[in-house]
Amino acid sequence: MARKKIIAGNWKMNMTPSEAVALVNTLKPLVANDDVDVLFCVPAIDIIPAMEAAKGSNIMIGAENMYFEEKGAYTGEISPAMLVDAGVKYVIIGHSERREYFAETDETVNKKVLKAFEHGITPIICCGETLTQREQGVTIDFIRQQIKIAFLSVSAAQAASAVIAYEPIWAIGTGKVATTEQAQEVCKAIRDCIAEIYDAATADAIRIQYGGSVSADSAPELFSQADIDGGLVGGASLKADFGKIVNYK
Ligand code: 13P
Repeated sequence: MARKKIIAGNWKMNMTPSEAVALVNTLKPLVANDDVDVLFCVPAIDIIPAMEAAKGSNIMIGAENMYFEEKGAYTGEISPAMLVDAGVKYVIIGHSERREYFAETDETVNKKVLKAFEHGITPIICCGETLTQREQGVTIDFIRQQIKIAFLSVSAAQAASAVIAYEPIWAIGTGKVATTEQAQEVCKAIRDCIAEIYDAATADAIRIQYGGSVSADSAPELFSQADIDGGLVGGASLKADFGKIVNYK
């Protein structure tokens, strides 16, 4: 089965609402490519203005995080219903920055993944090893553990529609992109792990992105690998370069 590539920007904590509108307007003509899914995951306060600005274009607006409860006394959190009401279809779950600075664990990631599916939102589930883990040769073991816990109680049909982002922590924001071989090796291991948990058809359907210092230069080779179905792009998604990444072919 030919999987459609999904190329997503992760704006992180950048862009005020008015800056968000300006950036969407700048990028709109540059990312017009219907051969791939184009997604901007933006800060919660930017979702509605960015969605307005993106109207009539191929740009989808997603979220960077979501809480796993329905509603209530959780000051500062964003609920799944809030995202659905705003028109959000994708949410990043378990980014390494959320794990490092906001105490997210494999268990909370799993709760968020289940809650996103319950509300019909597609999770972009992040995984990735530290430099120490890579140097000690435990990368694949560690990623398999992250994946197995993230997918606990997720059905095969849900898993088939999910997106996984493999983001080696040492490659994020460092300008040190993983080699094509390293990225492909881990993305294939992730697909094999999904086949083990579910079946070959589910593994064949799920989309796996690479993230970590993706640039207009590195995107063409990375995105042409058999098991890499697009990218999750940080820094380069805030510039005109994102247009080149989306049109990597
Ligand atoms: P950079 O592309 O800035 O390295 O960020 C990657 C990332 O964390 C995307 O989620």
